[in-house]
Amino acid sequence: MGIETSCDETGVGFVRDGVLLGDALASSMDEHARFGGVVPEVAARAHVNAMVPMVNAALGNAGLSLRDVGAVAVTAGPGLTSALQVGIAAAKSYALALDVPMYAVHHLAGHAAADTLEHGPLPSPCVILIVSGGHTSLLLVRDLVDQRILHLSDTWDDAAGEAFDKVARLLGLGYPGGPAIDRAARDGDPRAIAFPRPLTGPQARGQELEFSFSGLKTAVARYVEKGVDPALTTADVAASFQEAVVDVLVSKAILACRMHDVSTLVIVGGVAANGRLRASAEERCAAAGLQLRVPPMRLCTDNGAMIAAIGDLLVRAGAPDSPRDFSVDPAAVLHRAQLFIPEEVLASP
Ligand code: KG4
Ligand code: ZN
Repeated sequence: MGIETSCDETGVGFVRDGVLLGDALASSMDEHARFGGVVPEVAARAHVNAMVPMVNAALGNAGLSLRDVGAVAVTAGPGLTSALQVGIAAAKSYALALDVPMYAVHHLAGHAAADTLEHGPLPSPCVILIVSGGHTSLLLVRDLVDQRILHLSDTWDDAAGEAFDKVARLLGLGYPGGPAIDRAARDGDPRAIAFPRPLTGPQARGQELEFSFSGLKTAVARYVEKGVDPALTTADVAASFQEAVVDVLVSKAILACRMHDVSTLVIVGGVAANGRLRASAEERCAAAGLQLRVPPMRLCTDNGAMIAAIGDLLVRAGAPDSPRDFSVDPAAVLHRAQLFIPEEVLASP
């Protein structure tokens, strides 16, 4: 059983031997829309209300009963503390009541594991581009649960999803911004405005893989403040912004594969649901001779199945279960899929 409550989605999923048996998802997104972003306390309360119904719904979808559960995995970070606490409390309760082991897992490792539910085990090595609301990173991964994950780069400021959300607000497209820009951009011209591609070009030497999106966001804000060219529409601005983000993400991800002699690129996280990102990555990976893997849309954004996928991998790898007194790690950095693990495991390569 996997439980995810790091943000505004209450997700529960069941995975056995790499196969998704069933899952269920509730979202408090609508309750946050009028605030323009997720309100932690509102999200936490919604998790409390949705938790047991989602466990029961996922059990029903999987054709399982609680007695079938062999282990419980839960997101322990990163995320909103009060929201994470609800999932952890639920996971501990189920694990205690069922007398099964429990695993504290890293949310972003879950995003990567989501792809294994559709495409099978990840090849070793692979480059993973994680693009979510809070993170943008390029990772070099050999074994998702058995080995230390190497960060090739991260964002210096805003995450890609955050840039989508902020620019959507600027353009009056509402929250959540990613899907809104994705939709609006379909009617726009991606070449209408040449927005900057941060940290690309000769001046970025030595920092070719790093990301920065706050300057791009400011460039869109300046453009809008000046007054949009009357010949252009909001859709053109959205499409041009989206093109800049996608161009930077795909270029750097492909470069990371080249620099590390890796032939498989995996793109995961909420922004991997973006239509233009998926199309551009497909085209450019094919041209570069790289294998591209992207989870199905519904497994890109937060869900419980991806956390169950990590739990299943940990169980099958014989990982030691997490101590029962673990708590939240709201700012956890992704070095290992499992959080709160014994020192001797941490010391291994
Ligand atoms: O991974 P996720 O569901 O939650 C986090 O772990 O942050 O990612 C949420 C982010 C939000 O910023 C949202 O705007 C973005 O993913 N997103 C998208 C799309 N769908 C979700 N961004 C661009 N295009 C989309 N279709
Ligand atoms: Zn996420």
